[in-house]
Amino acid sequence: MAPAGSRPAVLVARRLLAAGYERLAESCEITEGGIHVTRQRLLELAPGADAIVADPAVPIDAELLEAAGPQLKVVANFAVGYDNVDPEACRDRGVMVTNTPDVLTNATAELALALTLAAARRITEAEADLRAGRWTGWDPGVLLGEELSGATFGVVGLGRIGRRYAELVAPLAGEILYVSRTPKPDAERELDAARVELGELLSRSDVISLHVPASAETAGLVGTEELRAMKAHAVLVNTARGPLVDSAALAAALRAGEIGAAGLDVFESEPEVPAELLEAPRCVLLPHIGSATTRARDAMAGLVAENVLAALAGTEPPNRVA
Ligand code: DGY
Repeated sequence: MAPAGSRPAVLVARRLLAAGYERLAESCEITEGGIHVTRQRLLELAPGADAIVADPAVPIDAELLEAAGPQLKVVANFAVGYDNVDPEACRDRGVMVTNTPDVLTNATAELALALTLAAARRITEAEADLRAGRWTGWDPGVLLGEELSGATFGVVGLGRIGRRYAELVAPLAGEILYVSRTPKPDAERELDAARVELGELLSRSDVISLHVPASAETAGLVGTEELRAMKAHAVLVNTARGPLVDSAALAAALRAGEIGAAGLDVFESEPEVPAELLEAPRCVLLPHIGSATTRARDAMAGLVAENVLAALAGTEPPNRVA
């Protein structure tokens, strides 16, 4: 515990943007691990921290919480997803967990739309050909992609980001299908979306976009069987979390022409990108930039600061998830 009158200690595991850092610095002592911090270094920096600021690349588990010590009050994750945090280990030690919802909804849904279009129209492949000097002139038969007007869009998970993605594609969509644990009457009314089982969504959709969190339940949600259920021209988009998709099965399906294309922003063991995906045809790959807009990232940093300050003040943080 910080001695009376002294400033609370905040450990920023990697990096916090100025929009959050400066607010915390007004009343806290901040130690930053740096973007390339190692696990060992974090364990060395943790003792005495009253708050830890984490992000999707920082596993927060019992060992790190123990290293921090009993004064630790909050783990503030710089992300909406918090699958990097062990919520039970936090709960056992009375440590609150917070995230950064809402402010990245537009940015992430827009990136899912960009990936949808890029994968369907083979944009990165076409540009790579051009840059490599392989373009020899207009050709009626090359780089043919899928047109999305009138397509059936399947949205897996109609939470905030899935719902925004559905809104963005609605002007293009012939039909919107969704999978969700609970019915979403608003979306059904406003977007004419229809709730179906996953199997039906997979077999009927031209585009399938994943928007569910990583959990034991969603690990391997899309594997060989699910890929086989998709249309041969289907476009699969994943901006949620890597473990939802079996990479080897996806690469095999792309190679075999069992699905049309894929657009991925997330991978199972980031920053590792499976070699088979790097080599797979019609596959657009991005380095987890879903929320990477200035507006979203500054707002996320601001929320991190608000959550930390509330927890340190003994009040309920606005974005507590555990
Ligand atoms: C999140 O907030 O969960 C995103 O994946 C980070 O970009």
